[in-house]
Amino acid sequence: MADKANTMWGGRFAGGPDAIMEAINASISYDQRLAPQDIAGSRAHAAMLAAQGIITNSDAEAIREGLLTVLSEIEAGEFTFSAALEDIHMNVEARLREILGEPAGRLHTARSRNDQVAVDFRLWVRDQCDAADDALSKLQSALVGQAEAGADWVMPGFTHLQTAQPVTWGHHMLAYVEMLDRDRGRFADARKRMNQSPLGAAALAGTSFDIDRKATAQALGFDGPMMNSLDAVSDRDFALEFLSSATICAMHLSRLAEELVIWSSAQFRFVAMSDKWSTGSSIMPQKRNPDAAELIRAKIGRIFGANVALVTVMKGLPLAYSKDMQEDKEQVFDAADNLLLALAAMAGMIADMTANVENLRHAAASGFSTATDLADWLVRTLNMPFRDAHHVTGSLVAMAEDKGIDLPDLTLEQMQSVCQDITTEVFDVLGVDNSVASRTSLGGTAPSRVREQIARWKDALA
Ligand code: ARG
Repeated sequence: MADKANTMWGGRFAGGPDAIMEAINASISYDQRLAPQDIAGSRAHAAMLAAQGIITNSDAEAIREGLLTVLSEIEAGEFTFSAALEDIHMNVEARLREILGEPAGRLHTARSRNDQVAVDFRLWVRDQCDAADDALSKLQSALVGQAEAGADWVMPGFTHLQTAQPVTWGHHMLAYVEMLDRDRGRFADARKRMNQSPLGAAALAGTSFDIDRKATAQALGFDGPMMNSLDAVSDRDFALEFLSSATICAMHLSRLAEELVIWSSAQFRFVAMSDKWSTGSSIMPQKRNPDAAELIRAKIGRIFGANVALVTVMKGLPLAYSKDMQEDKEQVFDAADNLLLALAAMAGMIADMTANVENLRHAAASGFSTATDLADWLVRTLNMPFRDAHHVTGSLVAMAEDKGIDLPDLTLEQMQSVCQDITTEVFDVLGVDNSVASRTSLGGTAPSRVREQIARWKDALA
């Protein structure tokens, strides 16, 4: 029951907030996750205050030690969080005061919760960029492992989800490795830009105390201090850049997940998921459901939702801090947790899945997948203009379709009835192995090219 004025800021208040006011105002139920960052920030701040002669060394030492005690209480689950104390900053400081008495009250000199929360949250998001990078590299390694196993396994390549041309399994796996590498680049880029310290911006205008912002920036692993105090306390671009990187990454995961759902269906049977990554149905005994893939496919929803929610919170906010910005955390926490979970699940699924090499090959050979090879042969061997070759091939496909057979099953005579110059050598290019082996252009699907790329990725990921 909040009927007493807040002990941290209640000097000018006669009474406490309404219970509903407390409920809407308090962030402690979720921002307690920032405790380690909050305490790291406060320890750096206290050390700097002492080094600058703003507080005594003995007070700073007591504060720095006391903060470690608070952290260990929190980590041991022995800390009682209080909604009346609103947020992690005031919960930690109030406990410090209980432990230390008066010196604890000196910690907040030349600081505000506005720069405090900005520094805490930046440190937290920075860690998540590192965690995402690590999880992405593990998923890349799992994909490279699959690519290596099947550098020359032939499968259908699709456009419009219609059989287009044969490709190699390894090539398909490495396509995702490339995508995920761009994700890593985006997180790394965001991390680099966010790595500047808002600490010392104080409430909004800076402070009259002779603080050393470079020292606190350095102590916290930042590249340097942010150069405008108004910007420093009101910027949440770092969180938005994290969320937009996470959104694109989750979109990639969702595409891969969709392929796994399709591939593991009874109609495709391209892959089998291991028991570890599938579930059964409580009514249909034959079912083996790719739930993990489906859930990964769905995670994009909440991650993109977080991105939209935060950019909406931030739009139109006047400088500098507004309490609206407290709504930044839950979105980012949820997006980060779910992204990391999805990445770990995907890495596990990919590492454990078994490709059905026979079915892949069979599917690759159907659907007239080597029609382009035939057209290319007409161009190369008979010097036919490509447009004409396309037309001749189209007639041959129609003939095969009519007879219910595949292209390589047409006889030479049947082919010659459409184009009399065709020779028996044409059959060389109609097989799927020759088809993929011939696509040796840079970045192409030929096993020789795929093996080059596998070697490059193994090097890069080592
Ligand atoms: N809990 C607040 C937040 O997350 C901390 C900053 C509060 N600042 C203030 N002036 N009330 O944004």
